[in-house]
Amino acid sequence: MESIDWGSLPFGYFKTDYNVRCYFKEKQWGELEISDSEYVNLHIAATALHYGQEAFEGLKAFMGVDGKVRVFRINENAKRMRASAQGVMMQEVPDDIFCSAVIKAVQLNSKYIPPYGTGASLYIRPLLIGSGPQVGVKPAKEYLFMVFVGPVGPYFKEGFKPVAMQIVRDYDRAAPLGTGHIKVGGNYAASLRAGERAHDEGFSTAIFLDAKEKNFIDEAGPANFFGIRENKYITPLSASILPSITNKSLMTLAEDMGLVVEKRHLYVDELGSLEEVGACGTAAVISPIGKIVDRDTGKTFEYCPDGNAGPVSTALYNQLRAIQLGEVEDKYNWCTIIDTIETVAD
Ligand code: PLP
Ligand code: COI
Repeated sequence: MESIDWGSLPFGYFKTDYNVRCYFKEKQWGELEISDSEYVNLHIAATALHYGQEAFEGLKAFMGVDGKVRVFRINENAKRMRASAQGVMMQEVPDDIFCSAVIKAVQLNSKYIPPYGTGASLYIRPLLIGSGPQVGVKPAKEYLFMVFVGPVGPYFKEGFKPVAMQIVRDYDRAAPLGTGHIKVGGNYAASLRAGERAHDEGFSTAIFLDAKEKNFIDEAGPANFFGIRENKYITPLSASILPSITNKSLMTLAEDMGLVVEKRHLYVDELGSLEEVGACGTAAVISPIGKIVDRDTGKTFEYCPDGNAGPVSTALYNQLRAIQLGEVEDKYNWCTIIDTIETVAD
């Protein structure tokens, strides 16, 4: 293995040694299979290719201060993948298969877990696809569940430094009664044009508004949005956003710190009164937002006057990272410790 510069890893694909696969055929899930191939052999009429029967997850494993490997909130990701499967009529992956496959993928690639102190982590990408053929618009009868992993750095290249984001009104990523609340590929396809344009225009990502009224904030690209004002943690309530596991964790940590959590519509008009704003997610962790520009009105909202994240965002970020890295007590049992001493060769 070539030596890896852990401290400057981007958030991207990184080839590791193995991935784990499980097939649903003839009405049942098979055994976990280990593969060293980066490719899948798919039927030309697989529903994933034609009708978007696809869902994925994203979670991370961390090397702790104590040398133990922790996976963060794996059961929440298993649950959300079941919800995504239900949403687009795919076979649900039972939680025990989900968790065993994730753990096996981490164990098999344990040499790629970034060392403690590098700021990097092992990103885990489970995905479920309709692999059986259909030409009529119908759910498949066969499914393939896979998990691959790879070491990553921060999603937004700035890391824990303020980024600029752009409010858009001419694209929606999801409809109010559509699939925005589940993690299916189609939502990401729908977000690409706005996201790439935001990059081209100098922003980290696009902020989508609610598709119906375009009055309140939905999501910040591939992350949830939060604002801090007068000791309150405010985060959007919307049927078309992904229920972020990071956001759910931050709400708990915010309450522990004595903040009041408000989950409600967050109006664009309110942006000027927020003291701190940020985007949160597995990949983004917390990305402080230093500037928001409304692409239609040109109105600009600025935060982080000294060029750094505000005090509440910083405290939340530090506490979340400390739990993930085993530096403080994990009082909610969010982390699953994984044994990586034995090699898994079955
Ligand atoms: N919103 C979207 C659209 C996402 O893709 C993600 C990433 O998973 C999130 C929010 C954050 O969710 P989580 O914290 O569970 O990773
Ligand atoms: C995540 O935060 O895990 C994501 O899935 C975001 C993005 C890479 C799609």
